[in-house]
Amino acid sequence: MSVDALEAIKTRRSIRRFKKGKVAPNILKEVLDAGRWAPSSRNSQPWKFILIVDEDLKRRIADATTAGKFLAEAPLGIAITVNTKLTRHPVEDGAASTMNILLAAHALGLGACWIGSYGSSYEEEVKRLLGVPSDWILLSIIALGYPDEKSYSSRIDLRELVYVNKFGSKEGLEELIDLR
Ligand SMILES: Cc1cc2nc3c(=O)[nH]c(=O)nc-3n(C[C@H](O)[C@H](O)[C@H](O)COP(=O)(O)O)c2cc1C
Repeated sequence: MSVDALEAIKTRRSIRRFKKGKVAPNILKEVLDAGRWAPSSRNSQPWKFILIVDEDLKRRIADATTAGKFLAEAPLGIAITVNTKLTRHPVEDGAASTMNILLAAHALGLGACWIGSYGSSYEEEVKRLLGVPSDWILLSIIALGYPDEKSYSSRIDLRELVYVNKFGSKEGLEELIDLR
């Protein structure tokens, strides 16, 4: 993995406030292409990406969500839908694609935020608004645009996250990874 990719992974943060400007077509193409190049179970590529650009529709979807109201003020939304007939792992496939899009957006100077949708109380309502067929899931909605905020988040220390050979064991951890 290149340093650029690592840098993007470590500096990406969820952005929920956006400047008014539209995302240029060539940039949007790159973002969606990153979603397309995500891994998927048996390379099923079971997704369709719906660009949410109609202002009224975007607002109605934002209103339907519980923690995605900021979508209304974003220049664009991307709904990640996954065909459950094409894959045995629709959640993983959709999440991998969502993550690729978030990272690409950040690498291209955009801001984005994952609005969780799969299994939510509003998944069916948003699917209806977008005309998504019943055998598809709505994995996520991504709010996208040029960032108008600095966003901060932290992570649990790696030391707390890694075990060796057995759940709960940290035996030999210091020799395996440089934790300084
Ligand atoms: C499955 C999933 C669902 C999420 N849903 C929402 C959401 O509905 N609203 C929101 O503001 N952020 C949502 N987020 C973003 C998380 O809150 C955010 O990633 C987390 O707080 C860490 O912050 P960071 O992304 O800036 O590092 C979601 C993230 C994931 C992975």
